[in-house]
Amino acid sequence: MREKVQEYRKLFPLLSKDIAYLDNAATTQKPLPVLDAVRKYYEEDNANPFRGVYDLSERATERYENARAKTAAFINADGPENIVFVRNASEALNLLAYSWCGDNLNEGDEIVVSVMEHHSDFLPWKHMAEKKKARIVRLDPDENGYISDETLDNVLSEKTRIVALTQVSNVLGRVNDIKHIAEKVHRAGALISVDGAQSVPHMKVDVKDLDCDFLSFSGHKMFAPMGIGVLYGRKELLDAMSPFMYGGEMIQTVHWDRVTYAETPHKFEAGTVNVGGAVGLDAAIDFINSVGWELIETREEVLTKRAMLGMKDTSGISVLGSGDWKDHKGIVTFLVDGVHPHDTADILGRAGVCVRAGHHCAQPLMDYLGVKSTCRVSFAFYNTEEEVDRFLEELSKVRGLMGYGK
Ligand code: ALA
Repeated sequence: MREKVQEYRKLFPLLSKDIAYLDNAATTQKPLPVLDAVRKYYEEDNANPFRGVYDLSERATERYENARAKTAAFINADGPENIVFVRNASEALNLLAYSWCGDNLNEGDEIVVSVMEHHSDFLPWKHMAEKKKARIVRLDPDENGYISDETLDNVLSEKTRIVALTQVSNVLGRVNDIKHIAEKVHRAGALISVDGAQSVPHMKVDVKDLDCDFLSFSGHKMFAPMGIGVLYGRKELLDAMSPFMYGGEMIQTVHWDRVTYAETPHKFEAGTVNVGGAVGLDAAIDFINSVGWELIETREEVLTKRAMLGMKDTSGISVLGSGDWKDHKGIVTFLVDGVHPHDTADILGRAGVCVRAGHHCAQPLMDYLGVKSTCRVSFAFYNTEEEVDRFLEELSKVRGLMGYGK
């Protein structure tokens, strides 16, 4: 497997630099098949899709719609009509919250949101709840990030309309058992929206198996370019939702006094769409399929285990969430005793080790855990044992450099 990883690494130009890139939960690097596909699209097929009847425009439309079909197959959706292309997971969640809540939420209704959600899966719901005089009900996992049946039962009620939950926490790395949770949410008569930003790039996500109603994710965290993301929704739910943005190409007919809109998913895609990004996502999905989930998951487990065991052996390091590496889906968030996380990340960065510091856009979770800011190391399958060891080596120097004894 290590040899295979070395071969794959050669496909990532940026990985040839003398850095250990360990900030993959923020964004991944891009392989040549993706870069080449985007470049080839702009060199050979670029035109404004849907608008022209000439061959070039039709080719651009075909490339865009092929990417949609590829994305649908990737998450086992019924078909391309379930896939709305957006800029990123944040836009997907805003679209969903504005449109779905706008049409369906009433005074006194409740939206359940977990405290470990990224701001993108909290603020749109909070905003809409305030507008509609509805209530946000907070779902608290235990300090390891685990959501028990009892906790869930306590927040679900006959007033619950929708539950917003991440499949993998971008801070704790905990994988939520969405299939089980979705079953309980549906039994309570509510819908479930899953934030898949940190899961779709790292594990097989099958929307039919999970039985989720909505799933949001970003291309740039799964080797595709920035600026392309996905909102998956059940067709009947998307059909019943109003458009989120209005403008070109999302209509059937427009007259001064009457307008009809395009069918799902096009009614949600106003304006010129990101064909280059969709082509890149299409190539990224091919790339992931060619690498295979077994290699991706096994490698990320090996790296996570090595990092966590090494961190346990380093004095002054505490890990947020579970102490068991098996509970961390390639994401380990930590603190160095006495050292501000930005100083830690700065020291590591100067040594060529890229990790993220801050609240990771999850301030309610930081409040809940009683910390202000943390450091996070996050892996992709292309990372190596040597990079983990380099991280551990530099991490072991941080306290000394900040004037503490080892
Ligand atoms: N949402 C991304 C992260 O967690 C940027 O780092």
